[in-house]
Amino acid sequence: MTNTKQTILTGIRVNGEMTLGNHLGALLPMVRLANKHSVNSNINIFVPDLHTIISDIDGTLQANLIKSIKYYLAAGLKLNQNVHIYRQSYIPAHSELAWILNCFATMGEVSRMIQYKEKGEGKDSTNVGIFDYPVLMAADILLYDARYVPVGEDQFQHLELTRDLAERFNHRAGREVFVLPAPTAEQAKFMGANDGIRIRDLQNPERKMSKSAAAENSKIMLSDTPEAAAKKVMSATTDSVNKVQFDMSNQPGISNLLQILSLLQGIPLATVTAEWAGVTQYGEFKAAVAEEVKAFLADFQARVAEISDREVLDILEESEAEVSKIAQAKLLEVQKVVGLR
Ligand code: TRP
Repeated sequence: MTNTKQTILTGIRVNGEMTLGNHLGALLPMVRLANKHSVNSNINIFVPDLHTIISDIDGTLQANLIKSIKYYLAAGLKLNQNVHIYRQSYIPAHSELAWILNCFATMGEVSRMIQYKEKGEGKDSTNVGIFDYPVLMAADILLYDARYVPVGEDQFQHLELTRDLAERFNHRAGREVFVLPAPTAEQAKFMGANDGIRIRDLQNPERKMSKSAAAENSKIMLSDTPEAAAKKVMSATTDSVNKVQFDMSNQPGISNLLQILSLLQGIPLATVTAEWAGVTQYGEFKAAVAEEVKAFLADFQARVAEISDREVLDILEESEAEVSKIAQAKLLEVQKVVGLR
């Protein structure tokens, strides 16, 4: 089976708990990108459940996986025949291709991956999965001839490895078995302006909003009640400049709230900033942001509640039946090159 359409592919981390920062900085940009391109490109969004078990084996995977997909749907992901949402472990070709690529990857290059160096290098107790993670990721991408792979910058090195492995394999095969994903500079351009938005911690706006922050009012979780979230906004750290303006270095708290308002309203930051120019009382401004956050959460949570687990499973099963044909065909080509078939 040949893929005539361009493929955009990404793996979404299984995340039971997401912050408003994850929503505005990662989920929403991905949904917008997918909706924009799904008319004429394949959109593959998959749950890398085999990657998840490298660190978390705690019985929460199934529930979190379903919830993560509901979040994508609630965030507005439009489904059509080009959009595929699937689970990695349901397509055995991912694991099989990863093994074959293992035989092309070198200890040297995989040892140089920053994520591995930070998480596991030099410890006897490090599981081999942590080391081999990027090779499985390469298989995820190469099975589907994906050209664009929207990921955070922390994953760029893995994309470069994917390109190297594809090139090495193609050279061995003497033909283009794998499509090389675009170079990372081109990937970044493709992801566009929404990329790199970092919503800040409400109490310590110099830091990124993180679900692991100790203080509850530092972060807004998508599962917070709308009222509780509004209160957190009201108690956000500001400054004593007394001007509502965008100045991340001197007024990170106010700038963060402007950013949140702009993204929730879907209005450019410059426009929102202009609307609030001249306001010197933070109370009024915070109340407006709080109201917006409250309305967003109420609406988002209602949408999530409307989607049943069965609906999610139906979407997954249908996609899995389709993409497994593509994956299996690619795997067979690869198996022939290395003499397994
Ligand atoms: N490593 C990615 C992350 O941590 C998740 C992932 C796994 C992925 N396989 C992928 C992303 C393939 C893109 C393509 O976010």
